[in-house]
Amino acid sequence: MGQQEECFLKKCTSKELVRLDLAIKYFAIKYFAIKYLATKYLAIKYLATKEQTVKLLKYSVISLSLLGLYAVIVTSVGADKLAYQTIFKPLPPVTEVTPDSRENAMVSLGERLYFETALSLDNDLSCNSCHKLDAFGVDNEKTSPGHKGQRGGRNSPTVYNSALNIAQFWDGRAADVEAQALGPILNPIEMAMPDEAAVLARLVSSDVVGGNYPQLFAKAFPEEKEPLTYKNVGAAIGAFERTLLTPSAFDDYLMGDESALTAEEQKGLQRFVETGCVACHAGVGIGGGMYQKLGLVVPYESADQGRYDVTKTEADRHVFKVPSLRNIVKTSPYFHDGSIATLEEAVKLMGKHQLGKDLSDAEINEIVVFLGALTGRIPLRASTESAGCAADTSECSAEVSP
Ligand code: HEC
Ligand code: HEC
Repeated sequence: MGQQEECFLKKCTSKELVRLDLAIKYFAIKYFAIKYLATKYLAIKYLATKEQTVKLLKYSVISLSLLGLYAVIVTSVGADKLAYQTIFKPLPPVTEVTPDSRENAMVSLGERLYFETALSLDNDLSCNSCHKLDAFGVDNEKTSPGHKGQRGGRNSPTVYNSALNIAQFWDGRAADVEAQALGPILNPIEMAMPDEAAVLARLVSSDVVGGNYPQLFAKAFPEEKEPLTYKNVGAAIGAFERTLLTPSAFDDYLMGDESALTAEEQKGLQRFVETGCVACHAGVGIGGGMYQKLGLVVPYESADQGRYDVTKTEADRHVFKVPSLRNIVKTSPYFHDGSIATLEEAVKLMGKHQLGKDLSDAEINEIVVFLGALTGRIPLRASTESAGCAADTSECSAEVSP
């Protein structure tokens, strides 16, 4: 995947930043023009005297011709589309791996580990317990039951497309999916393994169809003397997670298929941009590219200090990673604590607290219709092989050739 496809703010070159800025300004001008005309029309119709109307109309002729010219130019170069393509980015294609490549050995091992309950103290939990691959990478619980049913204070985000986020967790405390994967295994209220050595001992003594873990690690990390390390557990799971991308109708639209979005979805997209949601939810993830305060404009009540706990910087209080909105229709409940049950409510609160806008029910519905177009296609690997792998270990795809 190219640098450009991942660009959003922190990752952008200055040339890309200029383009992004232009695209956002373009919509600002466009919507300003529409609002300007609407206001003028209202003034002429209801408020102006005869003489004033004549004056207003005279100015209107001038401004309308200018706007008309502008409209002709932007339509002819497909400016809307160009601007959308600059603000958002389609998902990069998943790199094809050949069956007996080293990459495939690593991804297959990661896949196996993703479903491995031996990585939990009571042999009952795997990554898939809280991030179900056949349920868009979540468990649809407010907070997830971990070791002996204990729950933390945060909602489980989806693992789909999460490798593209600037960092992992609601507060960004892990740099990437490789580092992130090592957290839950040792977390006392999640998988609760006592230490790294215990994890490796478990893997050595666990059976895998057609072989064992030391063999699988040796295949995945051929250049290493001691391939079975805790760090490599994370590297393999991370490699698997990087394949978990879910291209959607919106990606098809961004790549030029006009008919991929219905008229309602396109209207919703316009509303999403016009309302200002793109100030934070943009880029390849439609989010996931920056940190922002929850309650930026109107304060939001929450005990969770967010990124402050990571950086201890006052400015980071109640700051969270802006979540990706891909598959958002499928990943309820919402917000870092899972306290918001419906998407409509989440959008309403966003309008109020992040933008200081009271969105009408009609506007909220338009946006929700657009968000539906972000529901993606689950990769075959996750939807068939691994789901089978979880249910019936003998069908698992990560096999060792004898
Ligand atoms: C008991 C439930 C549970 C288990 C088991 C679990 N997770 Fe999570 N996961 C969570 C919760 C809750 C969060 C959010 C925590 C936070 O942000 O502080 C999270 C966050 C994540 C994220 C960050 C996503 C993002 O967009 O920020 C990834 C990736 C992830 N988990 C992958 C895994 C992997 C891989 C495993 C297995 C090694 C795993 N999880 C095991 C509950 C779980
Ligand atoms: C100033 C930045 C900002 C703006 C503008 C913004 N958001 Fe958000 N959004 C966030 C942050 C930060 C969160 C995480 C909130 C939390 O802590 O749960 C979030 C969360 C969400 C969620 C819940 C995601 C989840 O996985 O639980 C939805 C849905 C959402 N935003 C939609 C929107 C919509 C629609 C708009 C426009 C009306 C919008 N946002 C405007 C920053 C923003």
